[in-house]
Amino acid sequence: MAACLISTHRSSILKWVYRKRFLFRSFNKFNVISSCLCILLTLVYGYIYLCKAIPPVTIEENRSINSNDSKGACDLYDGTWVLDENYPLYNASQCPFAENSFNCLANGRRDNKYLKWRWKPKNCDISRFNVGVVLEKLRGKRVVFVGDSLSRTQWESMICLLMNGVTDKTSVYEINGNKISKNIRYLGVRFSSYNFTVEFYRSVFLVQIGSVPRHAPKRVRSTIKLDELDKFSSKWIDSDILVFNTGHWWNRAKLFEIGCYFKVNGRLKLGMSTMAAYTTALNTWASWVENMVNTDRTHVFFRTFEGSHWSGQNGHICKVTQNPLAQSGREYIEYRSQFSDIIKEVVNNMSVPVTTMHVTHMGSYRSDAHVGTWSDNPTVPDCSHWCLPGVPDTWNEILHCDFVGEMLILPAAFLLLMGSQL
Ligand SMILES: *[C@@H]1O[C@H](CO)[C@@H](O)[C@H](O)[C@H]1NC(C)=O
Ligand SMILES: *[C@@H]1O[C@H](CO)[C@@H](O)[C@H](O)[C@H]1NC(C)=O
Ligand SMILES: *[C@@H]1O[C@H](CO)[C@@H](O)[C@H](O)[C@H]1NC(C)=O
Ligand SMILES: *[C@@H]1O[C@H](CO)[C@@H](O)[C@H](O)[C@H]1NC(C)=O
Ligand SMILES: *[C@@H]1O[C@H](CO)[C@@H](O)[C@H](O)[C@H]1NC(C)=O
Repeated sequence: MAACLISTHRSSILKWVYRKRFLFRSFNKFNVISSCLCILLTLVYGYIYLCKAIPPVTIEENRSINSNDSKGACDLYDGTWVLDENYPLYNASQCPFAENSFNCLANGRRDNKYLKWRWKPKNCDISRFNVGVVLEKLRGKRVVFVGDSLSRTQWESMICLLMNGVTDKTSVYEINGNKISKNIRYLGVRFSSYNFTVEFYRSVFLVQIGSVPRHAPKRVRSTIKLDELDKFSSKWIDSDILVFNTGHWWNRAKLFEIGCYFKVNGRLKLGMSTMAAYTTALNTWASWVENMVNTDRTHVFFRTFEGSHWSGQNGHICKVTQNPLAQSGREYIEYRSQFSDIIKEVVNNMSVPVTTMHVTHMGSYRSDAHVGTWSDNPTVPDCSHWCLPGVPDTWNEILHCDFVGEMLILPAAFLLLMGSQL
């Protein structure tokens, strides 16, 4: 993944290398040769100049400083949102897989600054979604998203981003001809000209919904088996990119208040807290990944909790702002990141490589990016889901670094060459 990122202290060199690459394409042969000569001369000149100007010892010193990660360490998730007129990356009205309830512009949102923010990590840049490269990279592959409706949004965003690069839109279709709906368990979109699918499995808890044991108290209407992964999980194994999330359903309103309690080892756990249950479920997920997924083939991601922006005493007020918050949201820091902390810890404990996508912090600024009343049902405000285009596109731009990881090999090799010249 790191290969897709450009460290700031190196970015000027990389940009230069890139510019040269782009120039190569448009130039004729003669110019290519003269450009090559030019680069060579630059290198030679740089070599002579540096050797003359700086004693070798200083160069060694500078190298060790550069190799110290603390200076330019690239934390993708530590950054700010910056205005960028080149966004958004697609028009949801032209993407049949962006569901109506997330298409805020089409549902009457008037201000459109919320579409123009790009996530800028502190010490590096996320390269813009390069649809041509991604489409080629995904040939013959299978991308699978698993989780709740926020996962569905990321799935929709991914398809819309990819459809931008497909000329014949009818070559992209849902495998079973299904329409997107809130409770549908499976949706698979096939990019037939590129021979790959992008799929979504709805599994809001990731673990299985169980039966009610005999002699259970009356209030128990259903159970969640914390120690068994969703039955659908066998369908997730055979994939190339596998992205999980869960969190939004782990609360009293969606569990105890509707009579849903936890079960471990066949036994009811009536007093178990949602956080303890969440940890148990994630550990079930972790051992499933360790035992069932071939991580040499499948790159597994877990996306952390996405901050919502409800306010008011009971958290029932949804005020969508016109600009992102200047500081990351308070409610996220105080309560909501508990989920993310557990995810981080569980993933860190794992014996196989899994990438945590730490999206909690970046989302917490974006009180301007929620659906609000611009959904297909304006009477129910929504400060949990995001408008499309919007924040989920950023998650996919981060993910896309993984698809195109090899893209920078040439410049990287070039840098090495330059390094050895010095
Ligand atoms: C190397 O470091 C020294 C001081 O530590 C600085 O004066 C010099 O400009 C640096 N050279 C390069 C090429 O970065
Ligand atoms: C790297 O950076 C850390 C923190 O700034 C510093 O303590 C350490 O000495 C540095 N190491 C080297 C090799 O420069
Ligand atoms: C998006 O597409 C729709 C339908 O083609 C069009 O009416 C609308 O103007 C477009 N919006 C933007 C912002 O380009
Ligand atoms: C499509 O991809 C599959 C692997 O997912 C591969 O087995 C098959 O040969 C590919 N078909 C074509 C026509 O390339
Ligand atoms: C991670 O592993 C440690 C040591 O085995 C254990 O104490 C801890 O509970 C684990 N964390 C989670 C979240 O399961």
